[in-house]
Amino acid sequence: MDTLQSLNFETVELDDQKNALVIIDQTLLPNKVVYLSLKTMAEIWQAIYDLQVRGAPAIGIAAAYGLYLGIKQSSATDFDAFFAEFSKVKKYLASSRPTAVNLFWALDRMETCLMKNASASVEKIKTALLQEAHDIKAEDIHTCRAIGEYGLSLLKPGMGLLTHCNAGQLATVKYGTATAPMYLGQEQGYNFKVFVDETRPLLQGARLTAYELNRAGIDATLICDNMAATVMSNGWVNAVFVGCDRVAANGDTANKIGTSGVAILAHYYGIPFYVCAPTSTIDMNCQTGRDIHIEQRPAEEITEKWYAQRMAPQGIKVFNPAFDVTENANITAIITEYGIAQPPFTTSLKDIFNKKLSG
Ligand code: MRU
Repeated sequence: MDTLQSLNFETVELDDQKNALVIIDQTLLPNKVVYLSLKTMAEIWQAIYDLQVRGAPAIGIAAAYGLYLGIKQSSATDFDAFFAEFSKVKKYLASSRPTAVNLFWALDRMETCLMKNASASVEKIKTALLQEAHDIKAEDIHTCRAIGEYGLSLLKPGMGLLTHCNAGQLATVKYGTATAPMYLGQEQGYNFKVFVDETRPLLQGARLTAYELNRAGIDATLICDNMAATVMSNGWVNAVFVGCDRVAANGDTANKIGTSGVAILAHYYGIPFYVCAPTSTIDMNCQTGRDIHIEQRPAEEITEKWYAQRMAPQGIKVFNPAFDVTENANITAIITEYGIAQPPFTTSLKDIFNKKLSG
């Protein structure tokens, strides 16, 4: 039984005929399922910035298709003119969000494809770029499934799991990263009990992860972020699974704000804390978590977002980082599509990339 059949939505899709990027508007879930057809670069940029499409892998896929759409109708006939247009669109899309490295990874991959085809006609380069964007999307499915299989190998039936934010199907193409072991376990009758942090301030856990897991028939319990210590101290959590936006070469991991607090709690209670990381989210050029640019978001997300009236007094100062960095010391293992990296991560992540390079 394919558990994910119940999640019959596409996070990101190209409508090549209509020159549009089609996304499910994640800001309206779970109340409304609305697909947006984005045609201009400004619309695609805004959709990424506003988290209508979000989650590191999905942002990368949206950017790759966005870049293709941005140069598809170029009238340039020589490589230099085409490359100039390509670079402009690439730079623009790259400015939408700073933390998830998948955005830059996907855009760079498109540029590598362009360079490989530099001697071809502009029309052939466009076809190659389209194929590259399709490949990025298709590979994500295999990547997430492999992460799910490695993750599941660490678990036993009936276990209690906890996750933060949404590193689910909505953040990828299929399976998600942190949710992949849950979906694969569900197919094999593991009957996990999953605690879902609501994930303030934008409620990706409550609105998206709870929605996905519920639809897939997984036993999910929603908790407020400040309840994680209680469920852990009750002995209800055997392992924590989270996604990530950028993993540094030493294993320090940027993920949704609140993740590092969950990791500290897990460490305190002796609960394994696993980061599910496609290699596209591991930035070996970034030495430590201190080198990761953390996105700051508008104050209104905290003061005005969820009620008809303000949730805080006018003029209050607000600090609203979208992500935090979990120190490698609080991470039990990093689960990639090429295997499970154990501490010390400086060595094990290199081994993962060597394995990737050797095919
Ligand atoms: O701000 P968001 O909703 O894009 O943040 C998403 C996360 O932090 C996810 O955990 C991360 O991108 C991994 S998604 C597989």
